[in-house]
Amino acid sequence: MSGLPVGRRSRYENPGTAWSADEVAILSDAVLHAPSVQNTRPWSLTLQERTAVLSELAEVPLPEQDLEGRDRRISCGAALENLVLAVRSLGWAADVDVRVAGGAVTATVIGARRAVVTQVENRRFRAISDRRSHRPAFGSRAVSEDIRDSVRSAATSPGVVGRWISGHIEALAMGWMLDYAARVLQADYQRALSMWCQAAPRGAAEQQVDFGLDKDAFTATGLGAIGLVTSHPHVPDACQLAAQIECESVLVISTRADEPYDHVRAGEAVEDAWLEATSRGLVASIMTQPLHLAEVRTRLEDLLDGMAVPQALMRFGYPDPHRRH
Ligand SMILES: Cc1cc2nc3c(=O)[nH]c(=O)nc-3n(C[C@H](O)[C@H](O)[C@H](O)COP(=O)(O)O)c2cc1C
Repeated sequence: MSGLPVGRRSRYENPGTAWSADEVAILSDAVLHAPSVQNTRPWSLTLQERTAVLSELAEVPLPEQDLEGRDRRISCGAALENLVLAVRSLGWAADVDVRVAGGAVTATVIGARRAVVTQVENRRFRAISDRRSHRPAFGSRAVSEDIRDSVRSAATSPGVVGRWISGHIEALAMGWMLDYAARVLQADYQRALSMWCQAAPRGAAEQQVDFGLDKDAFTATGLGAIGLVTSHPHVPDACQLAAQIECESVLVISTRADEPYDHVRAGEAVEDAWLEATSRGLVASIMTQPLHLAEVRTRLEDLLDGMAVPQALMRFGYPDPHRRH
């Protein structure tokens, strides 16, 4: 394999005998169930001897809002996490080597040494087939601090930070950023926000806050710009979004650097947090579109600790028992 070895994580031994047919089925199935941007599954998986190679498919077209390919690499990271958990569940140590060549990611996982799977790995592996995107509003049951801690810890590793949005000021700032991004990006993202807030409480604080975003990027001002006078669905305003954020558990996953390798790491963190949550009865969804705007990434980074670049937003909660899914 050519390219820059940006992510070597451990030395591996000579691969021995090949994966069995059962192992091939388990590894392939785990990768198939990973979340991916617009369900594109932008990777290929090659299984040979005791090696599994996950390669980013550069030919999968990039959405117009993501010409840098961030989402494609985050998707590959999520698939890599599932692959590693599957290798571990089979009782092999997973030796991982991630490389980026010409902007495309190749991850090699070797399972040639026996190693006992941990309870946490097993629990997350078993959650792979249950995990799915849950976009509507959640039920009213609150997520306990213990569970929030375990989900945040799952998303945190060297170079990757998981951080909950906390309190009114952060929720309001985030609401403004999402509102701003919705106006800039339009259509699909507006639809996602309107689903999120279909149960949003109304009458939240009506503060006008200037977060330094580029007002010229708005197509118009006021509520009309985000749905009423266009063919797009009605989108809640920033205050409604803030109220919704405040009553949900919204996690920001950030990375210390912002290179292709970091996007893969963010994807691994997304999937680990999602599987941890799923194993504890929570449901979740992910949103990355607002973070395709550099100014939103910068503002959100400033709002948090200013030390890491936001890569993904995830919301967690319990399903609404009164809603059919
Ligand atoms: C990097 C990335 C970005 C995503 N962005 C969004 C999004 O903005 N809105 C959304 O509803 N789902 C988003 N998703 C979720 C995918 O649409 C979803 O994973 C895919 O359709 C497969 O469905 P599943 O998650 O239920 O298995 C994203 C997933 C990934 C990995």
